[in-house]
Amino acid sequence: MNRKTVTTLHKMKADREKIAAITAYDASLAHVCEMAGVDLLLVGDSLAMVVQGHENTLPVTVDEMVYHTACVSRASRQALLVADMPFMAYATTDRALETAERLMKQGGAQMVKLEGGVPQLETVRYLSERGIPVCGHLGLTPQSVHRLGGYRVQGRDQAAARAMLEESAALQQAGAQLLVLECVPGTLANEISRNLEIPVIGIGAGPDTDGQVLVLYDVLGISVNRIPKFARDFMREAKSVEAAVRAYVEAVRRGDFPGPEHSFE
Ligand code: KIV
Repeated sequence: MNRKTVTTLHKMKADREKIAAITAYDASLAHVCEMAGVDLLLVGDSLAMVVQGHENTLPVTVDEMVYHTACVSRASRQALLVADMPFMAYATTDRALETAERLMKQGGAQMVKLEGGVPQLETVRYLSERGIPVCGHLGLTPQSVHRLGGYRVQGRDQAAARAMLEESAALQQAGAQLLVLECVPGTLANEISRNLEIPVIGIGAGPDTDGQVLVLYDVLGISVNRIPKFARDFMREAKSVEAAVRAYVEAVRRGDFPGPEHSFE
């Protein structure tokens, strides 16, 4: 099977075919996820929490992200491989370029993801103009946990919803080719997805985005803390890790996941 590219994902949106994405941090599980049919592998900075045991995503370094991206990329043949730029590693356009270069050259990433809207527009434009594919990330942006005062649903009031709608369009205009929306009301995520040409991948953003992403460990029911409301433990009814990830992929494709119990108003 040919590797999925950003063009494949854009066609999936046009054809109204749901995109199934998942995080991966090592070669073996990346391979299993691809065997289960995922379209996109994200080397998320969530590895700071689920692999390294930190309280939040802030401590993970560029070296560590490059290391894990390289581990995943050695096993990856089919999915689009996206890597997170860690906290402060894209605070200036020069730092962003340096980080993206390392994630792509040494890590083998095919796209980089960064968090934030208006403050990141210049960076998104700068990277895109230099041939670096960028995925935006709006809503709950975990690298801003201290500024947000915790992990809370975003965009609930009218002003915040309007601002997010405008920021998402501005990110697309600046060159972002994909957008992750985390923990936002389903109605707002629906509006943003319909308004954009680029695919929108939701996590805690209701059923109407163009695709879904979950942290692999949540799909497998492995957690130091409680599994978030927006996730589902697919391992409970599966006989193997591959079967659990396949059940997740199929539930996303059929539109069965997420259900109302995984979504926010
Ligand atoms: O770091 C991560 O795993 C993420 C997803 C939760 C979208 O950014």
